[in-house]
Amino acid sequence: MHSVKELGYIVIEASNLDAWKTFAVDLLGLMPGEQTTHGLALRFDERAHRMLIEAGPADDMAAIGYDCGDDANLDAITAQLRGHGFAVEEGGAELTARRKVRRLLVSRDPDGNRVELYVDLARAATPFHSSLIPSGFVTGSGGAGHAFLPTPARQPMLDFYALLGFRLSDYIQQEIAPGMLVDAAFTHCNPRHHTLAFAALPSPKKMHHFMIEASARVDVGRAYDRVQNAKAPLAMSIGMHPNDLMFSFYVTTPSGFAIELGADGRQILDEDSWQVVTYDCLSTWGHRPMAPGA
Ligand SMILES: [Fe+2]
Repeated sequence: MHSVKELGYIVIEASNLDAWKTFAVDLLGLMPGEQTTHGLALRFDERAHRMLIEAGPADDMAAIGYDCGDDANLDAITAQLRGHGFAVEEGGAELTARRKVRRLLVSRDPDGNRVELYVDLARAATPFHSSLIPSGFVTGSGGAGHAFLPTPARQPMLDFYALLGFRLSDYIQQEIAPGMLVDAAFTHCNPRHHTLAFAALPSPKKMHHFMIEASARVDVGRAYDRVQNAKAPLAMSIGMHPNDLMFSFYVTTPSGFAIELGADGRQILDEDSWQVVTYDCLSTWGHRPMAPGA
């Protein structure tokens, strides 16, 4: 089975680019990249972008880009998808340039989420620097972060992403209210504990949250202070998950879904000895839901 190498970037369609820039740069500490006619590029590392905020009314995730490593792997993954009846189209020169990749193909997962398969995301012309996150962000072989996708039908999503090489990490099942069971499946494509997670959650957005990982807990703590000082809408207090051990908090973005900012996430370094288990709580401690305006 051929596998994507990493989640390389996400694309957000946002109605208020100025609010996003303030949120991403002044609160989270992301580095602004190139501002184009389409919107704003945000950097986590030496790449030209890891998050693209494009102007539009949707206020939601518009696409996720997956790095396929090289042309042969991209072709093999494309063949796997087409062999199972999924359409894969050429991205075209304009989109390829806009994403700053050398080659790009586009598909849709069973929920209609746009999936961009690419090779060679450009490096930025300048070194990465963030005075607000001086430790920098954890990318490398683990990619840009992880996405938690609400889905009405989890198994077709797991089957589709298995064709991209995603393997199960573990499950969490917790009854969060009487009769309301959250049953989440976590999957990985590289050492990051999970790159995509799926659960039937009530959500008006295509993405529940996107996780960005800082290299040091102190930077997460300082960002937590900044978010509260700015009275930005904290979604969940600081806490830790039992499966990826991420020390993190959640803040609602100007587009309504959340960003999880974390540190010290677990890695899956030995695939052969990894055991898929089911945890019975979403968080070991903390992550208390915060009422809007609290
Ligand atoms: Fe998460």
